[in-house]
Amino acid sequence: MAYQECINCREKYDINEIIYFCRKCGDLLEIKYDYNKINEELSKSNWQNVPLSVWRYRDFMPVKDFSKIVSLNEGGTGFHHSRRLCKKVGIEQLYVKNEGENPTGSFKDRGMTVGVTKAVELGVKSVICASTGNTSASLAAYAARAGLECTALIPAGKIAYGKLSQAMIYGAKVIQVQGNFDESLEIVLKLSEKYKSIYLLNSINPFRIEGQKSLGFEICDQLNQKTPDRIIVPVGNAGNISAIWKGLKEFHKLGLLQELPKMTGIQAAGSAPIVHAIKNNSDTIVPIDSPETVATAIRIGAPVSWKKALRAIRESNGTAETVTDEEILEAQKLLAKTEGLFVEPASASSIAGLKKLVQQGQIDKDEYIVCVTTGHGLKDPDIAVKMSKKPIEVKAQIDAIEEILGLNKQSPLAISGEIS
Ligand code: F0G
Repeated sequence: MAYQECINCREKYDINEIIYFCRKCGDLLEIKYDYNKINEELSKSNWQNVPLSVWRYRDFMPVKDFSKIVSLNEGGTGFHHSRRLCKKVGIEQLYVKNEGENPTGSFKDRGMTVGVTKAVELGVKSVICASTGNTSASLAAYAARAGLECTALIPAGKIAYGKLSQAMIYGAKVIQVQGNFDESLEIVLKLSEKYKSIYLLNSINPFRIEGQKSLGFEICDQLNQKTPDRIIVPVGNAGNISAIWKGLKEFHKLGLLQELPKMTGIQAAGSAPIVHAIKNNSDTIVPIDSPETVATAIRIGAPVSWKKALRAIRESNGTAETVTDEEILEAQKLLAKTEGLFVEPASASSIAGLKKLVQQGQIDKDEYIVCVTTGHGLKDPDIAVKMSKKPIEVKAQIDAIEEILGLNKQSPLAISGEIS
């Protein structure tokens, strides 16, 4: 029922063919379905009573044998009505879809549960990726769960420690490449073309995108099919914004969503080829040779899914904006302090972007906004410690603590009132 199709020339490929680029024109592939068939399946299945998760949407997934599913209970992440942050930013309605609540702490798990299930269906024994950290952590976990060999190429010394520790403990072969993410990706693309037995699970793999589209489904279901005006997403390699848009369009096609929101992509100022293309009204991107940002997850100069992302932003009448490292870190702190949500810097770029677009008047104050935060703050604890006030160190004596809290100067009642 499902097949692979080139996004440019529409050449079709069998669902079980291992292929990453169109043989005719070299463009990206996507999974297509017979939507009448999906409708039929949905009317027979009890999917709306299944708890929120990636596999609640299994009728929308290109998986035939459900007994082979490789899962760690991904999806069903928190959808946080953020009233205090709303006030700080100066808008009326804001929800934060917090993808750090996934099993390995990022949205990548949505794609990996489907991608690794496909790997098992295909009978491959070995999987590979290039990564700025989260993809390697997630792939390593799902490969371990499925008993597959996993190799991850990462830019040497450039990924956050939490992510590196995950990939290592899950047993992946972690290779530090003396170069950036884009160079690592180029190598794994060549390797997987040369050795068909090594299955590539970067977001160029259209099965990954199928899992990640569930993020869009969940937003709709968590809003009871009300369409937000805008969804703001951090963008790196550009798979996620494309995936969310694909999901929304499929829900729309099947009558499960009346209107479509504006997709808004945020990139770090030093790594922003997609934003530049949108602003310059260009049909292509100009890759950035030496991308730089404190948000290491999105330090990417040549996003492989750029064409899908440009389409998502333009078709949805959305926009794209850059944020500086300073704005990213400020937003990370603000989200943590006002809503109790600790996200990694790349994730906070959606909040930083929201703030900037409101200030610029590009977002109306009464828009209904969803910001996606993509990864957990503990992925990169160094940065959180570095930008926070150092804890005070004192002797283990109660009067030392009383002095710091000012408890020996004022009445306890006055102080507790102040602190609360
Ligand atoms: N946020 C986080 C936390 C990420 O790890 C990534 C990508 C993105 C946003 C951007 O998503 O690439 O789909 O546009 N991380 C990849 C990795 C590249 O290797 O972990 P995208």
